[in-house]
Amino acid sequence: MSADAEPAHFAAVTVCVFDAYGTLFDVHTAVARCRNEIGPVADALSMTWRLRQVEYSWLRSLMGHYADFWQVTGEALDYAMAVHGLDDAALRAHLMELYLRLDAYPEVPEVLGVLHGRGLKTAILSNGSPTMLTAAVNSARLRGHLDAILSADRLQVYKPHPSVYQMACDQLGVDKGQVLFLSSNGWDVAGAAAFGFRVVWVNRAGQPRERLPVGPNAEVGSLTDLPGLIE
Ligand code: LAC
Repeated sequence: MSADAEPAHFAAVTVCVFDAYGTLFDVHTAVARCRNEIGPVADALSMTWRLRQVEYSWLRSLMGHYADFWQVTGEALDYAMAVHGLDDAALRAHLMELYLRLDAYPEVPEVLGVLHGRGLKTAILSNGSPTMLTAAVNSARLRGHLDAILSADRLQVYKPHPSVYQMACDQLGVDKGQVLFLSSNGWDVAGAAAFGFRVVWVNRAGQPRERLPVGPNAEVGSLTDLPGLIE
């Protein structure tokens, strides 16, 4: 936990809202399950896939050409496979199917249970499509730990557009001050903080801070430290 954590800021929190991909679910487990078939480009393929997936979501929002995250994820995979010299329809289909069954990070079920035990509500706020999120939550057996699963697809625009964070307040029936938002993605952290949420950056990869207008109220290396932040 970073020195600038201000637990007093979290006293009003009644709901923890989580980004999904990279925060609750490990996006690299899809490629990891096909590592032998893919070969030495596996890690580079997974990184290119994730980067284009996120970049395409930003660009489609800015251009006003929304397509759901399943289509964006498939188009990003097509680009990544082309870049890394992979032309295999069966592999593509398998990777997409695996994307519906990503592993949750190991601490996630226990931490969500602890938060519920303290009377806090828990929710996902994700760019993922409803079908993708339902599949991932059910595959990881997290359904009982989550009070709501909220998809940007409802608005046809992606995070970090402020309307997506506002949708969480509207759907959960809370004001900004009651929300603690958690994401591993620095751009999502900045978007949520700019909107007015209290934000914890789940810096799983040990990255430096983004050079963006606003940053998190606190930083942790995994969700394990979260309960201690808000007791
Ligand atoms: C999500 C991706 C963008 O919204 O991390 O879950």
